Amino acid sequence: MSDAEVQRVKLVPWAEGDFWLLSRTNAPEMTEHLGGPESEEKLAARHRRYVELRERGRMYRVTLASSGETVGSIGFWERQWRDDTVWETGWGVLPEFQGRGLATDAARAVVAVARSAGVHRCLHAFPGAEHAASNAVCRGAGFAWLGTVRFEYPKGHWMTSNDWRFDLAADV
Ligand SMILES: CC(C)(COP(=O)(O)OP(=O)(O)OC[C@H]1O[C@@H](n2cnc3c(N)ncnc32)[C@H](O)[C@@H]1OP(=O)(O)O)[C@@H](O)C(=O)NCCC(=O)NCCS
Repeated sequence: MSDAEVQRVKLVPWAEGDFWLLSRTNAPEMTEHLGGPESEEKLAARHRRYVELRERGRMYRVTLASSGETVGSIGFWERQWRDDTVWETGWGVLPEFQGRGLATDAARAVVAVARSAGVHRCLHAFPGAEHAASNAVCRGAGFAWLGTVRFEYPKGHWMTSNDWRFDLAADV
């Protein structure tokens, strides 16, 4: 990871005033691979979880380091996975900022934060198998592909995802 890439985006901890960003990432085109938009009630609950995440993970607003402009969101949270507790990550970049490598930069930055958190050894991402861009982000950020898995997400809807893992204890 070069210094230039590290500095292109800055992760700002999720705050009370960031609900607007959640509303934007809840648009149909942003949730195509995530089961579609959530209700206002679910979104409000998600916002509370994001604000209150602390020891069990962290959500961030992704900003351009140069201008401070908000380009998306990213974070990591705890998940039980194959008899272990791991970190899981997920991301979104607003349509007008997509295709510039910003999600990949943000994923690299979140790897660095999860590594510094020092709590769990592995950071996983589970993008839908059909989601070319998100799988490319995993590959580009240095995650290792472990195979495919089936998830019920949202409830009642089964999907095939890829299991990507970053070993935070590995030498960098
Ligand atoms: C997935 C998402 C975050 C990618 O954001 P982005 O900033 O455009 O991604 P990047 O510019 O870093 O591109 C990453 C890779 O994806 C590829 N890519 C981008 N858009 C693509 C598309 N529509 N189809 C195929 N590949 C695509 C890029 O070419 C790049 O590949 P490379 O590293 O091999 O060159 C963005 O599309 C998004 O927010 N989607 C909606 C939310 C979502 O689905 N989040 C993920 C949930 S798992």
